[in-house]
Amino acid sequence: MTIRASIRFLRRGKIVDLAHVPPMRTVLDYLRLDERSRGTKEGCNEGDCGACTVALGVLKNGKLVYEPVNACILLVGQLDGKELVTVDDLADGDTLHPVQQALVDTHGSQCGFCTPGFVMSLFTLYQSGKAPTREEIATQIAGNLCRCTGYRPIIDAGFAACTGSPVDRWAKGAKEAARQLAALDDGADVFVGTPESFIARPAQAATLARLTAENPDATIVSGATDVGLWITKQMRQLPKIILTGGVTSLHAVEMAKDRVSLGAAATYAEATPALSSIDPDVAEVLRRLGSTQVRASGTVGGNIANGSPIGDMPPMLIALGATLTLRHGDTERALLLENFFIAYGKQDRKPGELVWRIDVPKLKRGEAFRAYKISKRFDQDISAVMAAFKLMLDGRTISSARIAFGGMAATPKRGAQTEAALQGASLDQPASWKAAIAALAKDFQPISDMRASATYRIEVAQGLLKKALMEVAGADNTRVLAHRKAVA
Ligand SMILES: Cc1cc2nc3c(=O)[nH]c(=O)nc-3n(C[C@H](O)[C@H](O)[C@H](O)COP(=O)(O)OP(=O)(O)OC[C@H]3O[C@@H](n4cnc5c(N)ncnc54)[C@H](O)[C@@H]3O)c2cc1C
Ligand code: FES
Ligand code: FES
Repeated sequence: MTIRASIRFLRRGKIVDLAHVPPMRTVLDYLRLDERSRGTKEGCNEGDCGACTVALGVLKNGKLVYEPVNACILLVGQLDGKELVTVDDLADGDTLHPVQQALVDTHGSQCGFCTPGFVMSLFTLYQSGKAPTREEIATQIAGNLCRCTGYRPIIDAGFAACTGSPVDRWAKGAKEAARQLAALDDGADVFVGTPESFIARPAQAATLARLTAENPDATIVSGATDVGLWITKQMRQLPKIILTGGVTSLHAVEMAKDRVSLGAAATYAEATPALSSIDPDVAEVLRRLGSTQVRASGTVGGNIANGSPIGDMPPMLIALGATLTLRHGDTERALLLENFFIAYGKQDRKPGELVWRIDVPKLKRGEAFRAYKISKRFDQDISAVMAAFKLMLDGRTISSARIAFGGMAATPKRGAQTEAALQGASLDQPASWKAAIAALAKDFQPISDMRASATYRIEVAQGLLKKALMEVAGADNTRVLAHRKAVA
């Protein structure tokens, strides 16, 4: 198999070939310090403010797609095989890009610090060829913060610029860019550095598994939306980095009749259509997970592998009964996702073993699902409590239940006593729900931290179980159920 000793990507129509890249180099530092393109700004340096947003052009099923990503927590190695577009590239001489011009026309910029990031987020929306609603624009820019302007003029600008078919230089050059990107895809396993300090981006699944098994001290990186912060905020030294994203088959998202299967490197953006088809509540949680930028880079695999007790996906996947496949060298093993989380910071994963695939059963007839995310901010915030419920129904009686919570224990966790108390409860008799609601306090002893107090967490968890039961029983709550009705 071919090995390539450089990172290659497309920039301003030319191939950039970097043979000497420090493993931890971020795209933001590369742009500002190496390339000296200073339009892209550093705000928070942790993926929260969007000032550093750049666009990545990628081929998806042969089609060129532009996605917004946070350059501050993206590694240069992750650019391999992609096109990098920044705010410095957009104007054509003195003529502003339609998105930039719209921001001028609507007075969408004051101090201007956030503006390059908004421009790039809207640029990717412009390239999508959509004529978005105001709500879709708000979702697109949920990962961009502005302290001055207020968001109305910025949304106005998106509305004015994104009218359907793009007509800019990128639209005109799309065929050529797609050809160049296809030519970049040489199927080579990328290895830049030395055995002691490297960034590797294998293209072959077997190489990824072997390299990881041989280097159990290396840091596995999928989207880097967690690991990026280890670099920029915790100042950790990560001399050996192995990227999972180069293996095409690990991005696979398959929809079988009874399940959705995700490769561990599938980003949220890639996985969302299939996962959302399971239930509208899954779609709604995904819409609020991170931001458009975080969802373009971050992966469901990373959300599981990081072992966080407050990740949004594990409670939903556990309630749905998901199975996890791990791979060490040539050996694969599967386990129920709930058994992966052993204790705080401890998962059932050997050194050098990769999270490889996630299989998520679809809902069967007679099964009802609900999931709710409780966070201080509606968009782009980590959960204080994440709740997921799957109820198996025999007519109007609950025959069994799977309930799982995040933020309520040291790991994402099922509530065994609550599940037992739900068995036999009737949807028509709220009094029969009481034992289960009370049992939550036996299953979970949450802690108080900056996101919520222990008392709040228990109360909200009990409220959410009641809400789920009321909704499944058929109570009308037009506002809350809007996203469910929208897809009904
Ligand atoms: C601004 C911001 C907002 C966020 N909002 C949310 C949110 O709303 N909800 C939420 O749940 N999370 C949120 N996160 C956290 C993060 O985005 C998610 O946990 C994401 O899913 C991590 O995936 P990743 O691919 O980026 O992981 P990485 O950063 O690449 O890796 C995370 C961890 O998993 C390991 N790892 C990655 N892939 C594998 C693999 N295949 N096998 C073994 N180990 C692996 C890494 O070594 C590391 O320990 C947010 C992060 C940011 C920066
Ligand atoms: S600098 Fe704030 S998201 Fe990157
Ligand atoms: S214009 Fe000042 S932060 Fe947005």
